[in-house]
Amino acid sequence: MVWNPQQYLKFSGHRLRPAIDLLMRIPDFLVRSVADLGAGAGNVTKLLKERWPDAVVVGVEGSSEMVAAGRQAAPAVEWLQQDLGSWQPPQKYDVVYSNAALHWLPDHARLLPSILEKVEPGGILAVQMPRNFAAPSHLLIAETALNGPWRSRLEHLVMPPPVHEPAFYHAVLAPLSKNIDIWETEYLQILEGENPVKEWTKGTWLTRYLDILQGEEKAAFETAYGERVAKAYPRNPAGQTLFPFRRLFMVVQRKG
Ligand SMILES: C[S@@+](CC[C@H](N)C(=O)[O-])C[C@H]1O[C@@H](n2cnc3c(N)ncnc32)[C@H](O)[C@@H]1O
Repeated sequence: MVWNPQQYLKFSGHRLRPAIDLLMRIPDFLVRSVADLGAGAGNVTKLLKERWPDAVVVGVEGSSEMVAAGRQAAPAVEWLQQDLGSWQPPQKYDVVYSNAALHWLPDHARLLPSILEKVEPGGILAVQMPRNFAAPSHLLIAETALNGPWRSRLEHLVMPPPVHEPAFYHAVLAPLSKNIDIWETEYLQILEGENPVKEWTKGTWLTRYLDILQGEEKAAFETAYGERVAKAYPRNPAGQTLFPFRRLFMVVQRKG
């Protein structure tokens, strides 16, 4: 999938808030090394470097477009263009942080323990993932994909939600951790502009579908989804669109 940093950053305020909420839940301790997994355009990685200025901070990111944006936004960070599915660093980190990225990777029962192994004993794994996949914003992408001339090319993208219930992550990580804190927050996001929920998903989940289509068909798919999602999230009398968005957080201290 090709990431467009400009489209993603259209809602940077709303997307930044959970990243900061997660960062603020990491306790103070001596931090010498930090890895930011799926570091994106670097605006969050920069905050990690600001919190721990003496630490070596590395942004691990698969997209070359995002790495280029990240290098500009956070030049004091080391950038590594690397798929997280095959990331095997030679060292462990005091803090492994990941905001809004691990839902792109499968098999969380295996993935999360394998990432926790890259944390120093006593160090912290901090993760935030969206868990809004049962909301109209996301369900209507699948509905549009399965109800149009593009179905045969898009149906393989329709999959069960990639992020599980909080108790799933507790069961997987509690035996490996000294302390574990898992919670969810639903933000009532107040968006402005024309069909902003479509613009929101166009920066993330919708992109995989649009990437496959071309020309008029791509435009027709976007219009069909846009009509559905505009009905599901109508504007209020003040012209605003309320977009509730649920996110899952965990802060895990590794045993040892
Ligand atoms: C929604 S963005 C979040 C970026 C950043 N963490 C933030 O909070 O702004 C998700 C990022 O994860 C990256 N990503 C997704 N799957 C990946 C993978 N398998 N390996 C490396 N990076 C990945 C994407 O390229 C994208 O930059």
